[in-house]
Amino acid sequence: MRLGLLTGGGDCPGLNAAIRAVVCRAAERKITICGILEGWKGLLTSSFRPLAIDSISGILPLGGTILGTSRTNPLKSSAMRRKVIRNFKKTSLDGILAIGGEGTMRIAYSFQKAGVPIIGIPKTIDNDLWGTDVTIGFNTAVQIVTDAIDRLRTTAESHHRVMIVEVMGRHTGWIAVSSGIAGGAEAILIPESPFPLSRLIDLLQKRKERGKNFSIVVVSEDARLVIGKKGKIQTPVKHDEYGDIKLGGIGQLIARELRKKSSFEVRVTELGHLQRGGTPTAFDRILATRLGVEAVDLAAKKKFGRMVGLQGNKIISTPLTQIVPRLKKVDRSLYRLSETFFG
Ligand code: F6P
Repeated sequence: MRLGLLTGGGDCPGLNAAIRAVVCRAAERKITICGILEGWKGLLTSSFRPLAIDSISGILPLGGTILGTSRTNPLKSSAMRRKVIRNFKKTSLDGILAIGGEGTMRIAYSFQKAGVPIIGIPKTIDNDLWGTDVTIGFNTAVQIVTDAIDRLRTTAESHHRVMIVEVMGRHTGWIAVSSGIAGGAEAILIPESPFPLSRLIDLLQKRKERGKNFSIVVVSEDARLVIGKKGKIQTPVKHDEYGDIKLGGIGQLIARELRKKSSFEVRVTELGHLQRGGTPTAFDRILATRLGVEAVDLAAKKKFGRMVGLQGNKIISTPLTQIVPRLKKVDRSLYRLSETFFG
């Protein structure tokens, strides 16, 4: 058996751990792995790299991906789609293991339907994929943000400031709510739950009256601030190559409103791509290893058209057809729990 392996979409810590797991399990099963460079782009340009066991030496703790990644979307035109299928056949692959997030799974599902056997391995710091409790990279991102909150809290206290910490997560608030709970945030704004400016000012004001004249406000990049009865602030819409919205900047917009309507001294930290860099946590290494091994085992049984995932403490798999139309949003009960600690 000969399988292609690619990493698509935004990178995250744990990708190399998954690549290593795939290559090691494949070697054990006498399956050949062909690395596809820079996501789906590699199938358009026929850019491949053999992945023998010696090529993955030392990569377990490394951030990024040794295969490279891109947001190239081969579904953009029928010519591109045909080229991918042609190159897949020319390379004599029996299937593809695609490590990616929502965009990658959408593309995988489309090619699966067109006759290219694919298994998905879920990764994204956003943790918004259906079919798995946790995605590779999420735990590391939450740890990075929690560390940042701990550091921001000491300077916030020294200067009596409100620190707005803007985090990634696209259309869900998993990173914000998890790191907000871990870092003891005084308010957490997530896309799933629009937040009134009046409530934010009230929380900060009451806290000040209790003698706490500093606060941490964690804001997810697609959060919405509600102003008055009808007004709403969110980041302006731009799109990337996958057709996904490009976000960022809501923290500054919220700071502007807070400065207008209150006397708090406000500073903003946009953590950006720091959340995607560096070495994965032990949790992410273990998750990536388990998911990578399961993906190879499924391929060996020719169970394509599925995505592997974690459910409770079990590794499972779900048909791509059930994964693709859905977005895993933050549980209402988790957000409710975080609200207990607001203010
Ligand atoms: O999907 C992962 C993610 O980091 C999102 O949280 C963020 O909105 C986006 O990717 C940023 O993408 P890029 O690296 O292309 O700027």
